[in-house]
Amino acid sequence: MPFTHLKPKITTILSNERESAEQRLKEVCELLQTSVGYYDWVGFYFANEAERTLHLKAFAGEPTDHTVIPFGKGICGQVAVSNKNFVVPDVKAQDNYIACSITVKSEIVIPLFKDGKNIGQIDIDSHVEDPFSAEDERFLEWVNEEVAKIL
Ligand code: SME
Repeated sequence: MPFTHLKPKITTILSNERESAEQRLKEVCELLQTSVGYYDWVGFYFANEAERTLHLKAFAGEPTDHTVIPFGKGICGQVAVSNKNFVVPDVKAQDNYIACSITVKSEIVIPLFKDGKNIGQIDIDSHVEDPFSAEDERFLEWVNEEVAKIL
């Protein structure tokens, strides 16, 4: 599994206290986006609870216009309120979806919990249809747990 060899690399990036948390998150995005063929865009959004909006903090891939997403809007906004993983094998089948690029075919969003609270999420877009499995979910849950430790 490609994920097994990525885990120690992620641990190394996140433990680098000489860099800001934001810089480490960016490096995690870059590692994932360059190492997993079907991860075409990888980003971390974090919640502003007072405003009920998500804010893009780090990403790898094409820049997106969607740096602020209201709770409830799109796949990301729905995860902000459901607290549950959202795997979208085919984005065309979703009516509450925010398109970032016409090349995106599928998406996975995994909530990030700190002290039991949903504070953000990792969002991955793919140009491949239906590429995500339970292994992606378990791996990305693990990534988010590791990230939570440095926040
Ligand atoms: N597609 C997302 C918006 C964020 S972009 O994928 C970067 C959504 O529907 O929430």
